[in-house]
Amino acid sequence: MNKLVLVTGGTGYIGSHTVVELMNEGFDIVIIDNLSNSEKSVLDGISEITGRRPYFEQFDLCDKERVHNFFKIYRKVSAVIHFAAYKAVGESVEKPLMYYQNNLISLLNLLQAMEDFKVHQLVFSSSGTVYGEPDELPVTENSPVKKATSPYGNTKQISEEIISDTIKSGYELNAISLRYFNPIGAHHSALIGELPRGVPNNLVPFITQTAYGIRDQLKVFGDDYNTPDGFAIRDYINVVDLAKAHVISIKRLLEKKNKTNFEVFNLGTGKGSSVMEVIDSFQKVTGVKLNYKIVGRRAGDTEAIYANTDLSEKELGWKAGIGLNETLQSAWEWEKQYQNNS
Ligand code: UD1
Repeated sequence: MNKLVLVTGGTGYIGSHTVVELMNEGFDIVIIDNLSNSEKSVLDGISEITGRRPYFEQFDLCDKERVHNFFKIYRKVSAVIHFAAYKAVGESVEKPLMYYQNNLISLLNLLQAMEDFKVHQLVFSSSGTVYGEPDELPVTENSPVKKATSPYGNTKQISEEIISDTIKSGYELNAISLRYFNPIGAHHSALIGELPRGVPNNLVPFITQTAYGIRDQLKVFGDDYNTPDGFAIRDYINVVDLAKAHVISIKRLLEKKNKTNFEVFNLGTGKGSSVMEVIDSFQKVTGVKLNYKIVGRRAGDTEAIYANTDLSEKELGWKAGIGLNETLQSAWEWEKQYQNNS
């Protein structure tokens, strides 16, 4: 019989790509999502790609009773991947209480229900943002977790601490926290991809929307960084590669059957690219000329960050495979397909 995995936030960007990869590997999936930042039509894309439809429950994980009742009904859940969270850095600065409340209460409710119903395997969706402005590059899992630069980043740090403290207390929880760098791109079918609400905050959706003509101009934030070309550097990781790391993590948890363990892995390419390198690559692979303007730095931005991925390669046997050009092309195909159909 197929193992049943609960994916919270499974209609979101990384969640939906992970659901596809899990289903391709024969897992059964139940999604919990309140659709606060995604659309139900994502389920159609998942079904079209995989030929199967995941179970779907629409509710808010902050509702403790609903979470408890969910586990009472879905007794066969053998592992959980927890994506559901707010993720906009700027918004978290404006609405910190909303971020702390949503991101932390949902995790607490989930952990409590997992304890009550003896579900011991958890993959947690974390972020490279936990390293703040790093002293040394690339960052390893042992690099210091510096003071968070936003309430959003702080919720990721606190969430990891909550999981770690729970495990230290002796509670039977076997968890893997995956620290993503900058996920970009879309499934090669262009049936699922990133769906930002309103004006995108992140670079690649802003690029594709500008290319499509939805935005007039891309603002490039800062050309005076202490980097080879003066532009900020990030580690852009393909979302399907990222999704595959979740499948490996789930298999690792289910195979090892440890009852108390906490592991942390960086998920990046190990290579940094500057904002201008991303723009150049996009223009080169798509043949679309971007209207952009260099402006001042964006408050709170880090100069440069990219991952050391030795540990995930060694322990998970995982390595990013899809390059920047192909990934940017996939983001563009998705943008066109989505806009043409809406
Ligand atoms: C942010 C979050 C990160 C999260 C990621 C994806 C922090 C500090 N960062 O990363 O945790 O995983 O989003 O949701 O918490 N840029 C432009 N013009 C734009 C948009 C961006 O020049 O219109 C530049 C930025 O200044 C930055 C780079 O592009 O140098 C990447 O920015 P972005 O895509 O927003 O991601 P991060 O801020 O790195």
